[in-house]
Amino acid sequence: MTRRRIAILISGRGSNSLSLMAAARAADFPGEIALVLSNRPQAGGLALAREAGIEALAIDHTAYPDRASFDAALDDALRSHAIDLICLAGFMRVLTDAFVESWAGRMINIHPSLLPLFRGIDTHQRALDAGVLVHGCTVHFVVPELDAGPIVAQAAIPVVPGDKAADLAGRVLAQEHVLYPRALRMICDGSARLENGRVVFSEGWCAGGSLRSPG
Ligand code: GRF
Repeated sequence: MTRRRIAILISGRGSNSLSLMAAARAADFPGEIALVLSNRPQAGGLALAREAGIEALAIDHTAYPDRASFDAALDDALRSHAIDLICLAGFMRVLTDAFVESWAGRMINIHPSLLPLFRGIDTHQRALDAGVLVHGCTVHFVVPELDAGPIVAQAAIPVVPGDKAADLAGRVLAQEHVLYPRALRMICDGSARLENGRVVFSEGWCAGGSLRSPG
């Protein structure tokens, strides 16, 4: 089995990167976390990676005059580490269309809502404001339009009376930590793949292929 070389891009605490690193330690995981990279040198997730024995690198976006030059530095680092696949995990920096297009089909993201609902930020408060009874998270391929790419996996949670945004954030995050490693495994082993802008599952269309509700 060829293990695909994965880079995780973060900006903060890195709890999703931790769950991906933990999953990838399994002998049968079809990918290896080769690099954790942050645009913020003080991101907590960098220390978590180093503790796990994984190379951690900061490329401080404030040191670059514009998005294009930062993205070029990012691209150089990824290519020099022979990265096959990028996982965005709380990477709070908009990437240029050119960067996204050059990694098309090889970059995924986790977003804390059931897309296409609540793209962007403050998803938990917006879910409460909208009065939805079901909320969750989504793993999707990255396309130039923000939070809009083909969906790989989703996990749902109920919204219960009295929930505050912090309650939803906590319950959704727990699902993210299960969902993201599962989705990454499916992409790395080819059981979820992009075809004509949609994700197809080798298991065929079924709840087990299109909806990954942990449990
Ligand atoms: C997660 O909620 C993720 O869905 C969003 O950013 C947050 C990152 O959290 N994209 P962490 O840094 O992985 O703990």
